[in-house]
Amino acid sequence: MLSYHPHPMDPVRIDVSTPSRPYAMTIGDGILDRAGEILDAIGAPARRIVVSSPLVWRLHGEQLSRAVTLAEPILVPDGERFKQLSTVSRIYDALVRGNADRAATLITFGGGVIGDMAGFAAATYLRGIAVVHVPTTLLAQVDSAIGGKVGVNHAMGKNMIGAFYQPHAVLIDPLVLGTLPRREFRAGLYEVIKYGMTSSAALFDRVARDRKAIFARTIEALMPIITESCRIKAEVVTVDEREAGPRRILNFGHTAGHALEAVTRYRRFRHGEAVAYGMLVAAELATARGALADGDRQALAAVIASLGPLPPIVDLSAGAILDAMQHDKKVVAGRLHFVLPTAIGATAIVDDVNEPELRAALKKIGFAP
Ligand SMILES: NC(=O)c1ccc[n+]([C@@H]2O[C@H](COP(=O)([O-])OP(=O)(O)OC[C@H]3O[C@@H](n4cnc5c(N)ncnc54)[C@H](O)[C@@H]3O)[C@@H](O)[C@H]2O)c1
Ligand SMILES: [Zn+2]
Repeated sequence: MLSYHPHPMDPVRIDVSTPSRPYAMTIGDGILDRAGEILDAIGAPARRIVVSSPLVWRLHGEQLSRAVTLAEPILVPDGERFKQLSTVSRIYDALVRGNADRAATLITFGGGVIGDMAGFAAATYLRGIAVVHVPTTLLAQVDSAIGGKVGVNHAMGKNMIGAFYQPHAVLIDPLVLGTLPRREFRAGLYEVIKYGMTSSAALFDRVARDRKAIFARTIEALMPIITESCRIKAEVVTVDEREAGPRRILNFGHTAGHALEAVTRYRRFRHGEAVAYGMLVAAELATARGALADGDRQALAAVIASLGPLPPIVDLSAGAILDAMQHDKKVVAGRLHFVLPTAIGATAIVDDVNEPELRAALKKIGFAP
């Protein structure tokens, strides 16, 4: 495998200019080693406090500590079930104990759960202190660290408590993905496929073509897919910070996907896996309507299948999924908004999907009647 490269690739900088704050993402191998330098350059408040999980800290904490002068890290558990206010409270406690004030920058160092929770703590502690995301899962690097959504779950539903709070910077080092379990890595790849489907046929083709090198996690294979995904998300977030319009295309695959997660109580699927099924459902719907060529639907199914098996769905009924969809945040005035693919790299948002056609699509994917 081509993982040795005498001339390290230059880091890529992508600007996100939301109305509430412009900031940059810096993507590059070994960027972690330059974290202190980059934070100084953007004028991030001088006292640097990191929030991470015990696992991520054990794996990569030393590298970050060499680059940034840090006090003791604030370590909190990062399973989805810990993504709740009581964990955020522990972060507040540590900040208060450490006398953190507005001269502090909170660095979130972990997957999406750490980024969302610590980002929410930063948004609310002292009515907001600076936050810099250093995401360590593929999903967090291409999705959750960008766009400013932060928050926690409520017993009644996912991400029900939160805020829009843009970071001062996002630092993405693909090398940290080397320690990510394969299943987590794949879960992030489904979101990359999502960006390909909504916005870039070239990205879609690249995942299909470079699959082996991507799984080997060579920097040459990871850099293009991460930068292209980040570029797409940054572009969408820049024009629509609060998801009033264009940002909704990134919900492609998420209507059925969220329903699937809810029906299985967030235990069976990694988020990306549920989105993979959701994309297949949307593609079936689109083909049945004549909005998507069957060859494109097959290409999507093929690339998803090529990444490996997904958890089974044969025991889940289409009816239960339909019920769960009615509770989705994307129901506006009683109408379900659905992102349908119209080609690889293009979508349309429709609000007239009816129950029989959804049921038919779910059955085609393999859900029980
Ligand atoms: N804010 C947003 O816009 C947004 C978007 C998408 C998803 N999310 C949220 O993101 C969360 C999911 O994030 P996730 O998939 O990163 O899961 P996660 O944060 O739970 O991380 C997955 C697992 O990987 C481990 N891990 C993290 N980095 C690692 C590394 N480099 N090496 C080895 N192990 C590592 C973690 O300890 C954890 O066990 C969900 O709560 C979801 O709601 C938010
Ligand atoms: Zn998602």
